[in-house]
Amino acid sequence: MAEAQARQRGGNADDGPATAEGAVRFEVDGEIAAITLARPDKRNAQTFATWSALARIGESLPEQVRVVVVKGEGPSFSAGIDLRMFTSEGVPGQGSFSSAAASEDAGFEQRIRQAQAGFLWLRRPEIVSIAAVQGHAIGAGFQLALACDLRIVADDVSFCMKEPALGLVPDLTGTKPLVELVGLAKAIDICLTARTVHADEAMRIGLAEQVVARSDLDQAVREKVTALLSTNRDAAVATKRLLQGARARSLEEQSRAEGIEQAARIKALFG
Ligand code: ACO
Repeated sequence: MAEAQARQRGGNADDGPATAEGAVRFEVDGEIAAITLARPDKRNAQTFATWSALARIGESLPEQVRVVVVKGEGPSFSAGIDLRMFTSEGVPGQGSFSSAAASEDAGFEQRIRQAQAGFLWLRRPEIVSIAAVQGHAIGAGFQLALACDLRIVADDVSFCMKEPALGLVPDLTGTKPLVELVGLAKAIDICLTARTVHADEAMRIGLAEQVVARSDLDQAVREKVTALLSTNRDAAVATKRLLQGARARSLEEQSRAEGIEQAARIKALFG
């Protein structure tokens, strides 16, 4: 991303409410955007500021971007929510679970919805999102990887949905893609035991599209980005729309949807 056309750098989540951006770095290079969780000394632990930063990136994503790569700096993709949320002091400027428990239900639910906005946009048909995952992807880290369309992982990856072990549920949009990727039984097994899923199993059960040596992760992601950019942009958007809608439609409805998309393509190409 040497020729980054746009660059935003957030401060550290410790900075407090005025400047907190959750330590998320955002770079755009033509049709490619990179989002980097940049708090390696804390294993890219996430806070509400992280999720606000992600949501803002989604809101202002330049139109030309076709591929978004989400990665984490340092040894781990992300160790999940900042554990200070479980303390009475909480995260400076962002509260704690104790303060949330004391607030109105509607207020906290609204805060969760705002946090989810940081994850939801990664599924837009206009982009393909790729999580490049090394080391630990725990809780919110696992869910961030699940929010992406594709996961390319290093051979040292360990996914863990730790929320139930801590008395919580996964609420950062991860439950639906997990069930869709691995099936209900395996999702129950993974979440309700909070066990670790390593690279081999991740590949076998469909959590990862590709496993590579840790040193090859960046290169593997670059190659996937190049391959994704090699197809026609409008056809890619229409095809992703079709694929995303397929599960909820009957075969007949899906066939009709294919016809509608194709008619639009043919008009655009030959009309
Ligand atoms: N929140 C805040 N700080 C964290 C977190 C976290 N989730 N994870 C790691 N850190 C900090 C550590 O406190 C430590 O800080 P320090 O150097 O100031 O002492 C630093 O990151 C490095 O952590 P280590 O444990 O030394 O790193 P290591 O690579 O050995 O282990 C691991 C990494 C396995 C991820 C471990 O840190 C860990 O278990 N973290 C907690 C994971 C967790 O329970 N997350 C919550 C999931 S639930 C959810 O996300 C909703």
